[in-house]
Amino acid sequence: MGMLVTVYRKEHFNAAHRLYNPTWDDAKNKEVFGLCNNPNFHGHNYDLVVKVKGPVDPDTGYVINLKTLSTIIKAEVLDRYDHHNLNMDTDEFNPEKGGLIPTAENISVIIWQRLRKHLQENLQLTVILYETERNFVEYSGD
Ligand code: NI
Repeated sequence: MGMLVTVYRKEHFNAAHRLYNPTWDDAKNKEVFGLCNNPNFHGHNYDLVVKVKGPVDPDTGYVINLKTLSTIIKAEVLDRYDHHNLNMDTDEFNPEKGGLIPTAENISVIIWQRLRKHLQENLQLTVILYETERNFVEYSGD
């Protein structure tokens, strides 16, 4: 009783971005963000790992139906971001429109918020986002 199991769904999307802070001049942006400040954008192959931890439902044997989770991720993340320019194609990552700078940190927070609203309250959600094989971030709603 009370066993909590963690299930994972792995997804992938390609997206372009540019990191810059519109309140700074070009020199400072270049100094802080380096290659990711390239004015003409550049792309990343993002790997997304969605972790859901919770009790096993005795009726289904599932923590969450992974087909359902996959459908939610597709609608909230892949359809919005895959093969898109995060700065130009979304408001949430357009710093000139008051959006967030599209770092892996900020992208993971927005993805977490988008997925969280679809999950039952007794499920714990963690989002892990790989911007490269070696650089990745994790957000659990803290
Ligand atoms: Ni970048």
